[in-house]
Amino acid sequence: MMPTDPTPSPYDQDPIISFSNVKKAFGPKVIYEDCTLDIYPGETITIIGGSGTGKSVTLKMLIGLLSADSGSIKAFGTEVTHLAEPKLLPIRRRVAMLFQGAALFDSLTVAQNIKYPLREHRWGNEKKLDERVAEVLEMVGLPGSQNLKPSALSGGMRKRVGLARAIAIEPEVILYDEPTTGLDPINVRRINGLILSLQKKLNVTSIVVTHDMDACFTFTDRIALLHNRRFSFVGTQDEARASPDRYLQEFIAGGKGTLDEDVE
Ligand SMILES: Nc1ncnc2c1ncn2[C@@H]1O[C@H](COP(=O)(O)OP(=O)(O)OP(=O)(O)O)[C@@H](O)[C@H]1O
Ligand SMILES: [Mg+2]
Repeated sequence: MMPTDPTPSPYDQDPIISFSNVKKAFGPKVIYEDCTLDIYPGETITIIGGSGTGKSVTLKMLIGLLSADSGSIKAFGTEVTHLAEPKLLPIRRRVAMLFQGAALFDSLTVAQNIKYPLREHRWGNEKKLDERVAEVLEMVGLPGSQNLKPSALSGGMRKRVGLARAIAIEPEVILYDEPTTGLDPINVRRINGLILSLQKKLNVTSIVVTHDMDACFTFTDRIALLHNRRFSFVGTQDEARASPDRYLQEFIAGGKGTLDEDVE
């Protein structure tokens, strides 16, 4: 008898997140004509695409920081488009975002920054908060940095504090917006290793925006290419390599997102 695979394929399940037919424009500038993308529980999907095409906008629409003009965005079966702020809180408890550029509060210490979402989501008493802060700082390789202010940190350290803050609430879905851009090779490996271990150990669902194609091919299950105001390609690594899509092939080979086809 064949041994049965203990981990069912994520693609046999309902999507955990669904963008359908989303349109988004800023004034006359159309970002999405049709944003359609399903994300399945436990998978890691990497969004690639040129600079300024709307990758960060996608993530922000998902957690309600930007609203879609039309179409539907569902997370855990709940429609998130046009949800009022208090109703977004339970979504943000389950979907955490590491912002491009970390977005730390400069007036707060590292520990206070990490405690912020923990308090918002009623994690527990001060002792519990301190324990969790120490735990996540250890995970990102910054033990003992609790009392530093962001201004005393390098770019790479800020990014790791941002990641510590994102993972502190034990989210089911993590959105990484360029988690390794601007980091030195050691920190790039550290962050990529952390993404991989969160995926493997905790079965977190991850959406990663990155220009780092080497990293993408080490951890991603699927790739989504944002091009011409839609996801023009969505598929596995093998499907990406075999695709006849010339732009996708150039992107994979070039990796830096510097193609100028999108310039209008
Ligand atoms: N709040 C906003 N108001 C107006 N325009 C915006 C806003 N947010 C984003 N944009 C515009 O939407 C477009 C897409 O922005 P976005 O930040 O999603 O790009 P990106 O794909 O993440 O680029 P990069 O790789 O450089 O981070 C850009 O032209 C940007 O100027
Ligand atoms: Mg961006």
